[in-house]
Amino acid sequence: MHSSLLFANRFSKENKETLDPYIYLPFGAGPRNCIGMRFALLVLKVAIVVLLQKYSFQSCRETPVLFCFIDMGSGLMVSSKSWAFQDLHHTLSLGLPWPIARFYDGRVAQIGVTDPDIIKMVLVKECYSVFTNRRTFGPTGKMEKGVFFAQEEQWKRIRTVLTPAFTSGKLKEMLPIVQHCAKNLITCLLEKAEKGEPVEIKEVIGPYSMDVATSSSFGVSMDSMNNPQDPFVKEAKKLVTINFMSPLNTVICIFPWLIPILNKINVSMFDTDAVEYFSKAILKIKAKREQGHEKGRVDFLGVMIESQKTEAKPKSNDTDHTYKDIPKFYISLQKAPLVYDTIMQMEYLDMAISEILRMYPIGGRIERLCKKDIEINGITIPKGVTVMIPPHVLHFDPEIWEEPEEFRPERFSKENKENINPYTYLPFGAGPRNCIGMRFALLILKAGMASLLQNFTFRPCKETQIPLEMSPTGIVTPKKPIILKVVPRASSAE
Ligand code: HEM
Repeated sequence: MHSSLLFANRFSKENKETLDPYIYLPFGAGPRNCIGMRFALLVLKVAIVVLLQKYSFQSCRETPVLFCFIDMGSGLMVSSKSWAFQDLHHTLSLGLPWPIARFYDGRVAQIGVTDPDIIKMVLVKECYSVFTNRRTFGPTGKMEKGVFFAQEEQWKRIRTVLTPAFTSGKLKEMLPIVQHCAKNLITCLLEKAEKGEPVEIKEVIGPYSMDVATSSSFGVSMDSMNNPQDPFVKEAKKLVTINFMSPLNTVICIFPWLIPILNKINVSMFDTDAVEYFSKAILKIKAKREQGHEKGRVDFLGVMIESQKTEAKPKSNDTDHTYKDIPKFYISLQKAPLVYDTIMQMEYLDMAISEILRMYPIGGRIERLCKKDIEINGITIPKGVTVMIPPHVLHFDPEIWEEPEEFRPERFSKENKENINPYTYLPFGAGPRNCIGMRFALLILKAGMASLLQNFTFRPCKETQIPLEMSPTGIVTPKKPIILKVVPRASSAE
């Protein structure tokens, strides 16, 4: 039988005995052979058995271009570039001019899409009718009711309640919180820079984002840089850490029907203690505010409490809450003139951040679950299939971006921006279910970056990893910490 043909009988009991073990070496041989051989075979066999129990596979119109493949999900299939779904990238490019790839993530049937017209249909035009929800990718416990995971009417209701918190008016009110955190960031970095030692950048940026998140969400003003052991900081860190490589993820990948059972027995992808901690903390803060303490706080919780009141009361009773009682520290910071507008007018900063988000899109996959059969541009998408849009694949397509591996903020200059198809650049997703925090995220990034660059110069040093290598864990993060030499600017000595 020709060696290029897949022929299982080569390995039948009888044939196997005649096989020279040193001409068949998938796992190597001898004392230094692959230690994970049995485990790998077990995983493969279980996966194949469960797949074949549930589905039959047939070749179709698309088969000759190698369109169907099985991806065991990031939990099992980790290549050096899996953070960017390079394997999928390769398959999609093999399939050109076909705009889709059918594959399985564990046992979840998915269709990968890179055609901008289909993307627009999925994310925008058919969002409410067919593609309203994300797939359930694990037991989420109480977080199931959060806006990210919520479905159908519950999602629409929550999204409507939250949307007013992200208007530019509200963000202007929140800027002082961001500025206060940025000030802490500068103070902390100054201390480190003055010692002359190289700085691990995440050590200062991590607490900055944590402080912005806690103070803008619940009005809990804290300096996590100097209080890393504070329970609020510790629990918040636990809450935002999901390990996609955990054994739980692997189990869910192969046996997704376990998700409801895991939910029932209180197993969650999120740290359940941290979720409990925040549920209680939020209720406490809410009760305090209902008693009139911290009236008019400018934070997301405040906006939600206000909207609950508005839902309960007739519109005519709606008072103009001008946040008269904002604590003094916020008011004093608000004196800074035109800061919001200044930040928003920093054109090159905007271009650089846009380019960073092109090269490192943290939303690795944008997903929508198809809730009824639909045909889009001649492609049938059956009910139950997840449509997956990979921003990284689009952001590195050489047909769209000239020399995509190069960092070139000029791609996003005023003139060039106009020519970018919005469905080929998706750092924040698109349509009614896009990232609700987009403007806020950009504000935090810009305020942080502007403050840093006003006060410091960043230089590579011998500890800096060049070129930057990304972690293979499926999460957009560098393999090794980013370490730079930080030099205070002369004018920052105030
Ligand atoms: C650079 C920072 C950020 C990036 C790149 C980012 C990216 C994304 C992406 C790609 C999605 C999925 C969109 C889709 O499915 O079409 C998303 C959803 C979401 N993001 Fe962000 N995000 C960022 C920061 C934030 C911040 C600061 C907040 C909150 C203050 C936030 C809140 C959300 C929420 C609530 C959703 C789910 C929206 C829904 O389902 O209705 N994000 N984000």
